[in-house]
Amino acid sequence: MDVPPFEHLFLITGTTRGIGRALVASALLQPNSFVVSLSRAAPFIRGNHQNIRIDLNDTDRIAESFKSIPINLKQAGRLARTVLINNAGVLDPIAPIGDCDDKLLARNIQVNLTAPLILTRHFFHFSKPFPGHKWIVNITSGASRTPYYGWSAYGAAKAGLDMATRAMAMEFSRIDPTFGICAVAPGTVDTAMQEKIRNCSPDQFEQVDKFLKLKANGALYPPERTATALIRLFMDGRLENGRRYDLREMEG
Ligand SMILES: NC(=O)c1ccc[n+]([C@@H]2O[C@H](COP(=O)([O-])OP(=O)(O)OC[C@H]3O[C@@H](n4cnc5c(N)ncnc54)[C@H](OP(=O)(O)O)[C@@H]3O)[C@@H](O)[C@H]2O)c1
Repeated sequence: MDVPPFEHLFLITGTTRGIGRALVASALLQPNSFVVSLSRAAPFIRGNHQNIRIDLNDTDRIAESFKSIPINLKQAGRLARTVLINNAGVLDPIAPIGDCDDKLLARNIQVNLTAPLILTRHFFHFSKPFPGHKWIVNITSGASRTPYYGWSAYGAAKAGLDMATRAMAMEFSRIDPTFGICAVAPGTVDTAMQEKIRNCSPDQFEQVDKFLKLKANGALYPPERTATALIRLFMDGRLENGRRYDLREMEG
């Protein structure tokens, strides 16, 4: 496998649409970058972009995904940074708890919380021998801090991800300070996830009106803008280990 020389290696989950797809496009624009997307789409490798097919409901497959990344120590010799962005996320089930489906509840925690932890563990071992900085960014949400009626699993998973980020930051600072981890809340971004919210009935999700108005008033961020702002944070070296950022406050 002939992988071109590169200085920036990005691993990004949930890249079939929305913020993840925009993150891949923005990462590919960085000179000397190689991007590995981890998604449920068909696998491919083209130039400096590889897609590894994985369903993050199946966390047993995460270890083997790392084995299929065609990068060895020699190729990684010039790396300035290696980045994992835990972006894949699911909102379902959206309903008060008594009306939720058992399997959807379990899948929500699996994709939003369990998978990022297991991905981070394997990323640690995968990238430890590489030179340069290693960063993990967990995409969180305002729902990790504010309870929303109908989003119990989503809010709990994102709150768990925030706390896991803080705990792992403490570990990295003692075990290997070439690693850093932070949580980034992207704000309200114009993706399929927002469309799903707007399609809820008020019985499912009490605040549906607020989200309908955000769309009608043009207040949603384009995913491309979110992705550009996030990738710029890495490239500018502006992230601090253990912090939780609101991307809307970071622009400019
Ligand atoms: N949009 C917002 O306003 C907003 C606000 C706060 C936080 N966020 C967070 O931002 C992240 C991206 O959200 P988005 O708005 O871009 O959502 P989206 O448009 O719904 O995209 C979600 C992505 O996650 C992937 N995904 C879901 N379940 C998966 C699984 N089991 N295995 C592999 N991939 C899976 C989807 O892939 P498939 O096509 O295979 O389903 C899709 O690519 C999420 O973590 C979300 O919680 C979004």
